[in-house]
Amino acid sequence: MYKILRYCLFLFPTETSHYLTLNALKLAHSLGLTRLLFGTEKNAPTRVFGLQFKNPIGIGAGLDKNGDYIDALSDLNVGFIEVGAITPKPQVGNTKPRLFRLKKDQAIINRMGFNNKGVDHLVKNLANKKTTCLIGVNLGKNKDTPLTEAKDDYIYCLKQVYAYCDFLTINISSPNTPDLRKLQTAEYLTTLLQSVKNARDDCATQQQKYVPLLVKLSPDLNDAELIMILDTINHIGLEGIIATNTTTTRSDALRSLLAKELGGLSGKPLQSLSMASLQKIKQHSEKLPVISIGGIDSVNEANRRFAHGASLIQLYTGLIYQGPGLLKKILRSVSKISHDSS
Ligand code: FNR
Repeated sequence: MYKILRYCLFLFPTETSHYLTLNALKLAHSLGLTRLLFGTEKNAPTRVFGLQFKNPIGIGAGLDKNGDYIDALSDLNVGFIEVGAITPKPQVGNTKPRLFRLKKDQAIINRMGFNNKGVDHLVKNLANKKTTCLIGVNLGKNKDTPLTEAKDDYIYCLKQVYAYCDFLTINISSPNTPDLRKLQTAEYLTTLLQSVKNARDDCATQQQKYVPLLVKLSPDLNDAELIMILDTINHIGLEGIIATNTTTTRSDALRSLLAKELGGLSGKPLQSLSMASLQKIKQHSEKLPVISIGGIDSVNEANRRFAHGASLIQLYTGLIYQGPGLLKKILRSVSKISHDSS
């Protein structure tokens, strides 16, 4: 059925079909239809970062930037949803078109540029959500904030959302905010991560609530850069990593005419890069929990990530191409493994 729906949705410009789908899901949720459509799946309880997830499969950041669709998305039976990226002030993002479907490559290129309604809007949505599904918030910085002041943006958003979320992600890997990825370099990294962690520790004491702090990394780091970042994260004592964001690289194997569009590439062509990042992270820091994301488009690929040490996985582009059926298949596989081994 999703194939027919996808055929219709893909007739619209990419960004239009994105919001059509989410609004249709929200409408179905408000009519009580999503539960009928998606049913309930067996749980596959997973404990990571001190949090109890009902299953280890989540939705990646960027799909619901403002938390407008949390209750509807949670009906897909996901274990967690990462909302954002969010910035202190609302911002419109880059000019359209900024989202491209590379159908022949089962991929997407986006250069959205952290379009979002600002952290206050997200806080209202988080405060009003009904679901008990675990929620992560992906933190970004406004485009006009200089890199030297970036930590203030992350800390401002962290403080606003702290009471309402279950984990936080420092996003320093989006390719679509000029120079954001420079925050991954030694020049900025230690000060940024230490300052944000200090703010988290203060909130934890004041609110008597512990919210794990993760860092989302680019798949385009070389080995030396990755090791430097891991050493810094371990030294500061952050709780985990999300690997990976989109790539700015373009392999010669890409077949779509749109492959030369600027922005971050996700989906199938990112699969091997994200997998390689996961392996390198686990080789260097075996105990550091990793959420693996990037090109997960099948039960086999999901199982491969778990086999290589991912604690949790997230989906994005795979969901766009295959719909909720992909989630269902992976969920059935992990809950079967979880129940067979318990
Ligand atoms: C993203 N992604 C993303 N990541 C992030 O940390 N903050 C964000 O705001 C966004 N925004 C965003 C928008 C769009 C349109 C896409 C396609 C992606 C990256 C996303 O969370 C994920 O890391 C990559 O897309 C790789 O996973 P998939 O898509 O290959 O499963």
